[in-house]
Amino acid sequence: MSHIVDQVSLGAIVQVRDRLLEQQARGQKVLRLESGDPSFDIPIHVREAMEKALRDGHTHYTASTGILVLRKAIFQKVTTENRLSVPNDDHVVVTNGGMHGLYILFRALLDAGDEVILPDPMWTEIAENVRLAGGKPVPVVIHEGRGYEYDPAEIEAAITPRTRAIFLNTPHNPTGAVTSPETLNAIAEIAEKHNLMLISDEAYEHVIYDGSRHVSIGSLPAAQNRTVSVFTMSKTYAMSGLRLGYLAINNPQILERIKKLVRCTINGVNSVTQHGAAAALNGPQAATRSMAQEYQKRRDILFSALEEAPYLKAFKPKGAFYLWARMEPEWPGYNGGNDDWSVTNYLIDSAGIGSSPGSAFGPAGDGYIRFAFSCSTDQVEEAAKRLPEVLSRAGK
Ligand SMILES: Cc1ncc(COP(=O)(O)O)c(C=O)c1O
Repeated sequence: MSHIVDQVSLGAIVQVRDRLLEQQARGQKVLRLESGDPSFDIPIHVREAMEKALRDGHTHYTASTGILVLRKAIFQKVTTENRLSVPNDDHVVVTNGGMHGLYILFRALLDAGDEVILPDPMWTEIAENVRLAGGKPVPVVIHEGRGYEYDPAEIEAAITPRTRAIFLNTPHNPTGAVTSPETLNAIAEIAEKHNLMLISDEAYEHVIYDGSRHVSIGSLPAAQNRTVSVFTMSKTYAMSGLRLGYLAINNPQILERIKKLVRCTINGVNSVTQHGAAAALNGPQAATRSMAQEYQKRRDILFSALEEAPYLKAFKPKGAFYLWARMEPEWPGYNGGNDDWSVTNYLIDSAGIGSSPGSAFGPAGDGYIRFAFSCSTDQVEEAAKRLPEVLSRAGK
């Protein structure tokens, strides 16, 4: 008997990680470029706030949508920085990471068979969470030739009577593309014309390079009342293991459903983490800026290395901490395989370098490789040193 959860994969990145950890256990040095976990420690004032919360006995159930001091800080941030029009702090909901926010959001939005338009390639968990909610992911390819910018006309052409929402992610995982305000505006107008919801995943809003600016689609007039914005502390404050995200929701009906789902899934995020998150949002933001600068340095190191290497052609990301690279037709293959997995396998076996095969991110990712440069600068430098040489040796 098949079950809805059987449609979800165990995850390509997990498979790569397990193999790297196995190599490491055998004493080999491995370079962890397969997954997007920031290498940095959390800012000191965040750690201190969490220690204080523990000492002060903040270890009990909290309001299930989040403690007031945190919701106030989030409300302040989303209305000033993201320029969202949520009416008050009751319209922001604290979730167990962005992932949990997305999971309950699709549950709250979709009835069986409802369609969600999403980019292809895209971080795998989006399509999987749509399916888990009984919905149907409708991938719209974003093209290398357009710098992975969304094509509003192609999005509009994918709309059917069953379409419920358009999902967007900028800066984008896996390509690192940053959507322009003009494109966001065009998509917002399409959503308004067809009366669709917009789901805006802004996990990488602060990981942005070359002076680019992050714009939240929910701030645009046509999108204001139809957007649910999804944020996380994982990337901005390197709080990935502490698990805290938040949703900003205008629509009262969706908000009510979300509150019910929070209660029935987690009934509130870890109380100590919530105090840390409030300190992160209310405190100095210098750490976030310096992390973005360090990511930009790593991006440049890795991008230059791939420019010197054969078989992979890298796209220079404007945001997020991923380098997306296309396999050239000359790639000689490995172990009898010729697809993106063969590159990932070759790099693990011959150099202990982690990556993700592009096909893990959807059909359009076939023939691409994603490197994450969220691991330490040392590891990125070492990978950059090894990659040109190890790729030159392929097939020999
Ligand atoms: C595009 C995107 N959205 C959301 C998330 C959620 O992250 P978290 O659950 O750690 O908040 C991630 C994590 O990698 C991501 O890449």
